[in-house]
Amino acid sequence: MTHRPATTDLDIHPLIAGRWSTRAYADRPIDHAKVVNILEAARWAPSAFNAQPWRFVVFEKSGDAAAFARAFGTLAPFNQGWNTNAQVLVAVLTDTLNAKGEPNANAAHDAGAAAMALLLQAHAEGLAAHTMSGIDADAFRAEFAIPERFKVLSVISIAYHGDQQTLPAALLEREQGPRARLPLETIAQFGGWQTAG
Ligand SMILES: Cc1cc2nc3c(=O)[nH]c(=O)nc-3n(C[C@H](O)[C@H](O)[C@H](O)COP(=O)(O)O)c2cc1C
Repeated sequence: MTHRPATTDLDIHPLIAGRWSTRAYADRPIDHAKVVNILEAARWAPSAFNAQPWRFVVFEKSGDAAAFARAFGTLAPFNQGWNTNAQVLVAVLTDTLNAKGEPNANAAHDAGAAAMALLLQAHAEGLAAHTMSGIDADAFRAEFAIPERFKVLSVISIAYHGDQQTLPAALLEREQGPRARLPLETIAQFGGWQTAG
């Protein structure tokens, strides 16, 4: 299923409603130029003091299969299971220190914004992209000699949409289930904090 738009309560931009995290990937290479385009979108995310703390370590199966396999090996077993057709892995890192060498309180926030820009651009390019925090961040750090100041936040896998009928039953069920979100009243309050929770 290429399209699984959210049933939103109100009209929002189709790019946002249409992005979703599939686990059914096609074994089809992605042009390097497309990958660079997706990264360019991430580059233009907003950040506190325009510090741009996000860093991406990119692995293309068609470009460097050995490095791709090393990165793949740091995914949690569950994620390895449905990523056999993934073509690109993008590790999302953030610089925990600012230019003065002090902790950057916005480091994860801003890297998250860049990651979302990346996901949306991938969707706009007709690709599927799926964020995973189910990774062995320490193993990734060791494998690729990531300096201490950079925190490994997640890995995003990218591929063309594939045939979801190839998924195991449990994943197929998740794939076809309703896309749920908390009600707007729960996540947004107007004029101040109104609820006890
Ligand atoms: C930070 C983060 C970590 C996630 N980790 C995983 C993961 O390890 N494995 C997985 O299958 N999905 C993972 N997801 C995907 C979420 O389950 C998914 O985004 C959520 O269910 C909402 O579905 P949607 O993206 O299709 O709207 C993660 C998403 C985010 C943002």
